[in-house]
Amino acid sequence: MEEQGSHIETHPREGEPLVRAGRPAPCVMVLFGATGDLAQRKLFPALYELVRQKLLPHGFALVAFSRSERNLESLLAQVKEGLRKYARTQPLDEAAWEWLAERMEVMSGAYDDPAAFFRLREHLERMSERFGTQGNQLYYLATPASTFPALLTGLSGAGLLYREDSSVQRPWRRLVIEKPFGRDLASARQLNRELASVLEERQIFRIDHYLGKETVQNILVFRFANAIFEPLWNRQHIDHVEITAAETIGVEGRGRFYDETGVIRDMVQNHLLQVLALCAMEPPISFAPEDIRDEKNKVFRALRPVAEHEVPRFVVQGQYQGYREEAGVAPDSRTPTYVAMKTYIDTWRWQGVPFYVRAGKKLAQRVTEVSIHYRSVPHCLFTTSETCQRLQPNVLRLRIQPREGIALSFESKVPGEDVSISGVTMDFDYADTFNEPVPEAYERLMLDCMRGNTTLFAREDSVEQAWAWMTPILEALEEGSCGPPRTYEPGSAGPDEAAALLARDGRRWTELRR
Ligand code: BG6
Repeated sequence: MEEQGSHIETHPREGEPLVRAGRPAPCVMVLFGATGDLAQRKLFPALYELVRQKLLPHGFALVAFSRSERNLESLLAQVKEGLRKYARTQPLDEAAWEWLAERMEVMSGAYDDPAAFFRLREHLERMSERFGTQGNQLYYLATPASTFPALLTGLSGAGLLYREDSSVQRPWRRLVIEKPFGRDLASARQLNRELASVLEERQIFRIDHYLGKETVQNILVFRFANAIFEPLWNRQHIDHVEITAAETIGVEGRGRFYDETGVIRDMVQNHLLQVLALCAMEPPISFAPEDIRDEKNKVFRALRPVAEHEVPRFVVQGQYQGYREEAGVAPDSRTPTYVAMKTYIDTWRWQGVPFYVRAGKKLAQRVTEVSIHYRSVPHCLFTTSETCQRLQPNVLRLRIQPREGIALSFESKVPGEDVSISGVTMDFDYADTFNEPVPEAYERLMLDCMRGNTTLFAREDSVEQAWAWMTPILEALEEGSCGPPRTYEPGSAGPDEAAALLARDGRRWTELRR
């Protein structure tokens, strides 16, 4: 099929935005894990972009807290190097970089040393005066999950984190916590308990960066700001839903972390279940954070449990050839780098509609998308059975990345005297239509933490609910109920068994193309 440009006209509306984001209040961000991979690739580039666009508060400062002794100069050099590689606007805007660099400081100390946190406290008091951050503090834990308990103890022990009585309490204290949020239901509950012993839920921001993606946020606008899709958004009209997150990259130097995590914990339990919830949820009563989060949680509660003996019928795991040779990976590793699964949502709306979810590394194509496959026409009018067989059901694709957009395919008559039918696609492309680059998820999420808006963050109950569904499946897989993961060739569409999972239901995955 030919690549098509988008022919969508935009009709900007005058007036108030649906949600007025507003400039966040002054604050200091304390970043744990500032020298790590995530900070380098995502967090600093997002902060830099916010500076460039003048979206950060005037009173802003950042403390990079590291376990090893670091001086500011070497940290700044490392951050700048990272920006040159990963910032989305190049070449670097020196003025924006200077603005950020002038507001950065570095502190080091052991995470289990109470004295380090008292030193941090004094340091923050001085910084508040110097940078006008008004005492507001945002703690960002971009560190391995094993460090969370010590960090929480240190921060609360020094009186840096405490429970706020009301949402308008000033100065405020907030905590951002990176995934993985636990490895199973028990560890997620334990972590939630530890957080709840120190903070109110509204002070906790569990990051799932998929929720910050523009295209993921647009799922709700697309569904609920348009009248024509919602009546078709149910079991009467939808045959099945496919959610794909295919990557071409491998584990990229994160072998040790990945080998303990695997694709289900890395991508499905969080990112893809969040996307699934946004596609499947009922209309919330308002756009307020808790109303949206309540509806998402109902979806997690309605995911049909998979009994141990059913796991092989619902899940296929794969591992790319060469994975075991990656640095940090066990030579006999059984960690999956690919998974395909089928699930049902036991609600009135979705009864009987399978949701097929797949994710994997080193696949043929980088694509993350949701495709809604509609039912076939109930009766074919066209004379030859061959034409009838060729008719394709409508498919609505929500392209999350790359080429962010939405496409609807339908059948059309080919011009001419014969009645000949061809598939055509209406395609809306974000970048073409709005003529500006789509922002990175972390930009939006960082601002939302500073604003105290929790809408795009995972709530305690839904994290546990997602784990409650996923944990028995993971346990069955880890006990070997599906055998070892199937090997697949790098650059392929994954193991053949994944195709068989859909073929058994008379369906096919959307093809991954190189
Ligand atoms: C991260 C995973 O959460 O998401 C990575 O740990 C994965 O393994 C990444 O590559 C994918 O994110 P994105 O934004 O590139 O789809």
